[in-house]
Amino acid sequence: MEKTIDESIQGSTLKTEGKTQNKRNLYIESYGCAMNFSDSEIVASILATEGFNTTQQLADADLVLVNTCSIRDKAEQTIRKRLNEYNKVKKTRPHLKVGVLGCMAERLKDKLLDEEKIVDMVVGPDAYKDLPNLIKEVDSGRDAVNVILSKDETYGDIAPVRLNTNGVTAFVSITRGCDNMCTFCVVPFTRGRERSRDPQSILEEVNELWNNGFKEITLLGQNVDSYLWYGGGLKKDFEKASDMQKATAVNFANLLEMVALAQPKMRIRFSTSNPQDMTLDVIRTMAKYDNICNHIHLPLQSGSNRILKKMNRLHTIEEYFKLIDDIRDILPECAISQDIIAGFPTETEEDHKDTLKALEYVKYDFGYMYAYSERPGTLAGRKMEDDIPEPIKKRRLSEIIALQREHCQYRTEQHLGKVQEVLIEGTSKKSENEWMGRNSQSSVVVFPKEHYKIGDFVNVQINDCTSATLIGKAIGYSENN
Ligand code: SAH
Ligand code: F3S
Repeated sequence: MEKTIDESIQGSTLKTEGKTQNKRNLYIESYGCAMNFSDSEIVASILATEGFNTTQQLADADLVLVNTCSIRDKAEQTIRKRLNEYNKVKKTRPHLKVGVLGCMAERLKDKLLDEEKIVDMVVGPDAYKDLPNLIKEVDSGRDAVNVILSKDETYGDIAPVRLNTNGVTAFVSITRGCDNMCTFCVVPFTRGRERSRDPQSILEEVNELWNNGFKEITLLGQNVDSYLWYGGGLKKDFEKASDMQKATAVNFANLLEMVALAQPKMRIRFSTSNPQDMTLDVIRTMAKYDNICNHIHLPLQSGSNRILKKMNRLHTIEEYFKLIDDIRDILPECAISQDIIAGFPTETEEDHKDTLKALEYVKYDFGYMYAYSERPGTLAGRKMEDDIPEPIKKRRLSEIIALQREHCQYRTEQHLGKVQEVLIEGTSKKSENEWMGRNSQSSVVVFPKEHYKIGDFVNVQINDCTSATLIGKAIGYSENN
């Protein structure tokens, strides 16, 4: 959980000495998806060259940046509350400047300056390289806004400053934006059109991470399977590329293979897959390389063909099941997780039952489940009445969650008695004496620390489990160590 502002200030009253002269301190807070956390590392890097140190202590901050999420109304409400807390802090420390980054910045633009009087700067996800100029504006007493979306910005040339890092796992962003236009989703509006990052810069980042002791990376994109490098530019303009560009294009299966080969001991994960774009080549590449983890996050959203169509998900439930069957065929040990939305406009009890049937079919290892939240500007927001009453949405959501919980239990039980390779990420939340790490399938594993340390690959005998955690005992280093 985030610290409250009071805690942050109290926690830091003792340690303001040591602050470098002429340097300013940046306090950056991120909400929402992994991409936002990854973007904050790019922002920290851009501002480091402008003389900003990052600080974990709000009391030391000269500049606060809040990297925001718009995916559901609740996410925006949480951030608004947080901005109001900053308002109180600003009253006692007038030199403090506050900037809003990310999806809320893009969605609300300069309205944020009026609505939230505390905000000095509004910067959309493609405008972070303009931060040095925007900060100069703010320094000279003006508000500053840049929410221009880009055709080619991927920040491939920026080496991220790793924030709050465990030194073992890191995100590597590979695409930006999304062209899918799912009717419920605000992302295509806030993050713009889809573009891919140069594979060379991805490989350089992965190599650098390995050289710095990192052992696991997650390749990030709104829709990683749609990755396509043909020399730069938007995905939608690929048609117009030259024959040469087409012949040498790199797709996601190619990229996965390049990364797997570049660092054969680095664990590789990726997120998020989109059922309409995931190819058998990707699954075969996963099967071919031991260092690519056995986990696919494959959002379902709904089990009903009628609702999938209204959501503009470009596949049927039968095609989705076929993909699941293919994954199980090629990668029998692969974990599969989901995103589901309950109560999309016009959803009937029949549709809801189709979603429960789909859950039964796949028996996902875990999932992220939400009640539909209408987003202004999306097609569903403009054209479809949010007509499922809240209590019905909540009831359907709780039925989905309850069934998923049974499946989580079923899936974790399948690991009992096995020995699995675990990468140690840190101390278990529940016990100082136990490590927490993950197996290839992304399940959390806890076990006594003994002589092992963070970043070790160990073989763990799984003896017990809850629906979310595997419990075991290390029996030695794995051969990967
Ligand atoms: N492709 C993205 C998905 C973005 S949003 C990714 O890489 O993660 C993550 C999930 O939020 C979606 O899969 C969907 O299940 C959920 N979501 C998006 N918009 C929503 C809305 N308006 N209401 C409820 N849930 C939503
Ligand atoms: Fe959103 Fe659909 Fe893209 S959920 S991020 S529009 S794949």
